Amino acid sequence: MTVDSPGRRLRWSLLLILLLILGLMIRLVLTGPDEQPPTRPPSPAAPSPKVERQASDDPSAEMNALVEVLEGFIAYLQSHPHLSRAERVDSLARSLNRSDAILEAASQATRSSLAIFKFPLRRMAEELSELDAEAMQTLSKHFNERGYQGGGESWTFDPLEEVLYRTVFHDQDYIEPALAMQIMAWEVKGEKEPIWSALGPERDEDRTKADTIRQFFTGYASTRSGHVQMTRALHVLDPETLNGCVWAELGYGTGKIFEAVREAVGPQGSIVGVELGSGYEALIERLSRHPSLNWGPITLVRGSEDDCGLPAESVDIVHETGIHVGMGSPETLETRTIPWLRSIKRAMRPGAIMVLDDFGAPSIDRVRLVMARVGLEEVRVEFFPTTRTNPPQPDFVAAFRKPAAKRPGPPDLKAR
Ligand SMILES: C[S@@+](CC[C@H](N)C(=O)[O-])C[C@H]1O[C@@H](n2cnc3c(N)ncnc32)[C@H](O)[C@@H]1O
Repeated sequence: MTVDSPGRRLRWSLLLILLLILGLMIRLVLTGPDEQPPTRPPSPAAPSPKVERQASDDPSAEMNALVEVLEGFIAYLQSHPHLSRAERVDSLARSLNRSDAILEAASQATRSSLAIFKFPLRRMAEELSELDAEAMQTLSKHFNERGYQGGGESWTFDPLEEVLYRTVFHDQDYIEPALAMQIMAWEVKGEKEPIWSALGPERDEDRTKADTIRQFFTGYASTRSGHVQMTRALHVLDPETLNGCVWAELGYGTGKIFEAVREAVGPQGSIVGVELGSGYEALIERLSRHPSLNWGPITLVRGSEDDCGLPAESVDIVHETGIHVGMGSPETLETRTIPWLRSIKRAMRPGAIMVLDDFGAPSIDRVRLVMARVGLEEVRVEFFPTTRTNPPQPDFVAAFRKPAAKRPGPPDLKAR
């Protein structure tokens, strides 16, 4: 006979609760707190669903996702001869669909900062159009053989970008397109060493071709265009005095300022470009032959880090952007920068002006000290509100003049 007393029921209930708590604790120890259901990685073929999210202006996630697409395209180009037509179409359509999904979900600001991807995306779109125009039609309306259309102004191609695009993505004699894209992927990922080693025999004696490609994928699409550079220079130069001048562009890189310089100096003026190696010259020689670029004749001079290589008293305007004149250690200042600036001063005609535009790095104080060392006189400094430097310091363009030659003065009576 069982006696169901209240005390006994209470003991049983307490035991049950204890067992329940114990069970819960064991589960927690074994599985971890509140495990999320595993998420499936998105299929590269299918556009991801539209994600409602706070638009962030940090493009790193989209950047990484697009680099993955790019690496897929590089692999495609390398295996290209072994793929059937259907496989090629499928691979390209996947890459473009995936890119579209990434870009569509991005904020407008993020898309602008991803504009370098317009080059490989256009190449993919062109290739798919050629292979299968119908497959191209089924892609998002944002794509056509000119690339991705939803990116705003930075995603359109200006005349120089157009010619650079054809050189880098179609001119096998200049560079293998797969290698160009590989350089782009390394550049975006910040892996510089493989870029320098990538161009084989040029590696040791001349890294400059690799640098033109690197600059093409960074400086050109993401920083100031040549016309913006010129507008900034005209804050410290008088445009009326430029017609017919000899303009020396130091560190011309991919040549993006040349069109604007030709407009400023006119057909009677002369343009001299100074750079450090044959890679830059090879690029500019190719580009300057192109009928859509109205550069006119350009003289290329090979300079070095301590000598600009220009003949004495040969130029009226010297301009540079991106060399960061005055940065570096006290040692490089003495062994390179000061001798280099002295060689520039020698090349300037009396009264000629040198314009420096280096994103505020180094600071204006540093620039003033360095220019005073070589005897170039400050003419004008114009400050701009934005800066890319970190920590922020004022962005400016500065003009310095070579003093006009002293006229023979009245005879020094004391010396007589
Ligand atoms: C950041 S890039 C800028 C290129 C170009 N000015 C632009 O805005 O696209 C700097 C360029 O200056 C060149 N450079 C650096 N030091 C130089 C020097 N002492 N003489 C000539 N070019 C130099 C580099 O080779 C490189 O191409």
